[in-house]
Amino acid sequence: METPTLKRLRVIAPGRINLLGEHLDYNHGIVLPAAIDRHFEFEIQARQSPLILIEALDLNEQWEFLWAELSSSTTSGWKNYVKGVLLLMGLDSHQPAGLHIRFTSNIPIGAGLSSSAALCCGLAFGLNEFYDLGKTRQELALLAQQTEHQFAGVKCGLMDQVASLFGKANHLLAFDCISHDITPFELPLHGAQLFLIDSKVKHNLAESAYNQRRASMEQAWSIAQSLDPNLQHWRDLPSENALPLFEKLDAETQKRLQYVLEEIKRVEAVQKLASALAAADLSVKHEEWLEQLGACLTQTHMGLSVLYEVSCTELDFLQDQITKSPGVYGARMMGGGFGGCLLVLASAEFEPSSALPPIFSAYQNQFGSTALHYPIALAAGVHVGAS
Ligand code: GLA
Repeated sequence: METPTLKRLRVIAPGRINLLGEHLDYNHGIVLPAAIDRHFEFEIQARQSPLILIEALDLNEQWEFLWAELSSSTTSGWKNYVKGVLLLMGLDSHQPAGLHIRFTSNIPIGAGLSSSAALCCGLAFGLNEFYDLGKTRQELALLAQQTEHQFAGVKCGLMDQVASLFGKANHLLAFDCISHDITPFELPLHGAQLFLIDSKVKHNLAESAYNQRRASMEQAWSIAQSLDPNLQHWRDLPSENALPLFEKLDAETQKRLQYVLEEIKRVEAVQKLASALAAADLSVKHEEWLEQLGACLTQTHMGLSVLYEVSCTELDFLQDQITKSPGVYGARMMGGGFGGCLLVLASAEFEPSSALPPIFSAYQNQFGSTALHYPIALAAGVHVGAS
């Protein structure tokens, strides 16, 4: 008898960068992320067995279980995310029986490129297609975010999931974290280059420190609202109301809020310049724009390091060295922080292959670890791949 062909689906799910608006997604801001050409690749296939088999091919790990066992299973690492997505998708108990999922990824883990969001978004999108569940990308983004909250204990915002699901090739997204509007736009780089430097630092405290930052900003927000019940979000805090609020905050929370308010302003300024350039406003000169954008990146780094305190010595060292290199407009740590990557804006003439080795060897001497250079391209969001 002929074996029936089993249903099969390939899904590509990218990681992300963020140009500007760091730690603003849970602080009522606008953020400017993009999906990149580093991704998870899933293969989802029906299987003639009641067991669900998940294979993390890069890690050479696999996990096989019955649907009925899933909710009470004890998991850690990547299995937390898989468990969360499977449970939150609202599948019928019979649906996932006989499922085989394999995945690989070239997104470095813990590098601030949102590999966990790509894992959750890709898996949720794949299951949605596979079982024809009819969920929208917006719903999938929220579900992937809930997976982080409930199954990994990270109270993240929605930026990473939106970037992974809504990314558009060669575009950044302006994601308004209040209205949830997403506006793709092209970044006028005029030949300049964006690339990443991976510090290779993976900080263990990242998750708890991230949640602490969020909690202290939520506390500051309730004080702000008690002073002005009409205040809708940080973006609308009139400067005359900022002073009485600052007086009610402890010194540490004052610094956190100062960073947030300054970062909101930097995003506004960059958006304004980028749209003037898109509208061919000749009063904005390309070189000046790149210098201003670079200066914003560097100011954001300083704010994240000194005020929001989510950088680390290794990132600060690399950021300092790279911004002293001729042809570099600016650089900043990117993502949640405490390690991971720097995002660098440099001129077209900047040659990473000759400029970076001396910096990397100084880094090696100082910290005993090897930094890496990743070129990046802005890519499409989660999609079905060719099978
Ligand atoms: C992590 C979180 C995001 C966002 C960034 C910081 O990537 O998952 O929601 O808060 O940090 O901008």
